[in-house]
Amino acid sequence: MQSKSNSRLHVAIIMDGNGRWATQRGLPRVAGHRAGVAAVRRVVEHAPPLGIRVLTLYAFSSDNWARPASEVQSIFWIIRAFLRLECERLRQQGARLEVIGRRDRIPAPLLREIERTESATAAGRSLHLRIAIDYSAQMSIAAAVATAAAQPPREQLISPDHMRAFIAHALTADSGNVDLLIRTGGEQRLSDFLLWETAYAELVFTHRMWPDFDESDLASALGDFNHRERRFGAIPAAPVQSESSNTDSAQ
Ligand code: FPP
Repeated sequence: MQSKSNSRLHVAIIMDGNGRWATQRGLPRVAGHRAGVAAVRRVVEHAPPLGIRVLTLYAFSSDNWARPASEVQSIFWIIRAFLRLECERLRQQGARLEVIGRRDRIPAPLLREIERTESATAAGRSLHLRIAIDYSAQMSIAAAVATAAAQPPREQLISPDHMRAFIAHALTADSGNVDLLIRTGGEQRLSDFLLWETAYAELVFTHRMWPDFDESDLASALGDFNHRERRFGAIPAAPVQSESSNTDSAQ
């Protein structure tokens, strides 16, 4: 079984179920997104003591633009308020914020807050907090391919090995591959999230709606992860053999 030291884990979370959480309570969907902020705060605070060094949260997918404009605006407003209110706490906690995804469609006030928080927390070393906004894994892979294709030498274009190494570097050099992917809200799909980086991730799906997700749910997902055998395509490690059994092993 793989080492379970849990000292440099990359955990990614698809924060799903905000809308249903609100609807079940007779509230507008945006109330679920607002309540989701408290869950974000909880996981950010409890991640480092659990050995999580990189935490990637899916806040807004590129497909979420298809939602009503008022809901999109509310989500951006809520993320902006979170950054404004939490920037100092993140800095003191030693968290480094990085927003991944497209930036050219993000409204200017949110973009300014993102840039301000990223630079204020740039020295953080205890947690690399990545928030995915206007994010599409397919687009991020395609963008890495486009960057590779624009560079000499030409062989890079035709060698799958070079292209693979280039994409892996572009997508994982700073944050590593995902060890554990959690999706709340009961659905079991990846929704165009970190498709390259989750190639060997363990997946945990929970029915808990995101606003209810707390540190015990995070610890329980990690407990589940710790019982998985991560083989990365290899066969299980051979049991340690005694000397006597070694001597008569002819095949
Ligand atoms: C998915 O639930 C959730 C989102 C699209 C938005 C996530 C945003 C937050 C949790 C706000 C706070 C985020 C940060 C980073 C501060 P859904 O609306 O699809 O839920 P449903 O499946 O029940 O409809």
